[in-house]
Amino acid sequence: MDLTREEEAGLDGKYGEATSIAYNILWSVGQLTEAKRLIDISSAHVSGVAYNTIGDAGLKFLSSISESGKFSVHTTVNPTGMDLNQWKKLGIDPGYAEKQQTIVAAYLKLGAIPSFTCLPYEGVNVPKKGSHVSWAETSAAIYANSILGLKTNRESALTALASAITGKIPLSDFHKTDALKPNIIIKVHPELTGTLDYGLLGYYAGRVADEGPIGFEGIKSIKNDEAKSLSAGLGTTGASGTFLLDYEPSGVEKVSFTSTEKRRTRDDLSRADQGDNVVLGCPHYSLAEITQLYKILKGRKFTKRCLIFCSRYTFGKANDLGLIGNLTRAGCEFVCDSCPDFTPLMGLLDVDTIVTDSCKGCHYIHKQHSVDVALMDTNQIVEENCK
Ligand code: F3S
Repeated sequence: MDLTREEEAGLDGKYGEATSIAYNILWSVGQLTEAKRLIDISSAHVSGVAYNTIGDAGLKFLSSISESGKFSVHTTVNPTGMDLNQWKKLGIDPGYAEKQQTIVAAYLKLGAIPSFTCLPYEGVNVPKKGSHVSWAETSAAIYANSILGLKTNRESALTALASAITGKIPLSDFHKTDALKPNIIIKVHPELTGTLDYGLLGYYAGRVADEGPIGFEGIKSIKNDEAKSLSAGLGTTGASGTFLLDYEPSGVEKVSFTSTEKRRTRDDLSRADQGDNVVLGCPHYSLAEITQLYKILKGRKFTKRCLIFCSRYTFGKANDLGLIGNLTRAGCEFVCDSCPDFTPLMGLLDVDTIVTDSCKGCHYIHKQHSVDVALMDTNQIVEENCK
């Protein structure tokens, strides 16, 4: 991979240790992906923020790199492992909180926008269509390529961090391609109604497709939250970085997603008939979903604990609209800055079963916290858990 003089100087340490480490990471990735050069990016989104996911080694690395590094492009960060304001009230262990706060302090010192969300494209990281970006967090990267018209590979926490510092990414894979062609077409037979159905389609598609683009035949248009759910399901089981809607080329392998595949996918995921607590917001609940939940409730209240995970940005917008007050009175508890799947809070709930409306949430909550998770759409959750 060719480097400019400036990039070589960065690699050799002229701009400090953090920049040199960052260029070394990009250099290695560039060599592996046979990139010819680095290109500029307009934004980064970095994962690896929750202490649960990076541990002491990650904490040490970030603290050290923040001593000499600075982000050079607009950079948002994924959720942490706790609500940064309410952690005490929620019962998070102070020892855990101290480590999480050290990670947060390192990211802020590097210049991160304090977004702490996997929904950066709702209000906090909105690059111009066609921009090259470096986004970790699979659901956000797939959504960026498929819906926002951005170009990103599914970056790791380390490559996105290196990109945030240098403002560069190797010119490889999605950054090189203008006209994407699917490697596989999935013919969608049943009518999909609501975000859960799209999540199931994504979860299924990830299992049957390779890392190339996926074409969906039979979906002419899609709402933002349906696309978010599709991206999250796809990112959970597969390696593909993008999908195309209403695509029907010839000569490409075709598989079907019928009501049978939909039911089987749901049966595979759902391990309980009901949940002792309700957990919503993986990926983080959007303003539209919070609004929708309020409408579905129609004055009813949750009869059990209902936690809603969202970004502090979305929380602020929902609060301005009076939704937070109304939903809190309906028994909802909002948790910001945090990921339901990678937080000690789930263990503190002390329940055997959880119910959620997200395929990704269902998959990871079960895996991480060894509780049985019931998967239902939001309407059914309200019907069965409110009065
Ligand atoms: Fe977001 Fe955590 Fe789910 S980062 S997509 S809420 S696993």
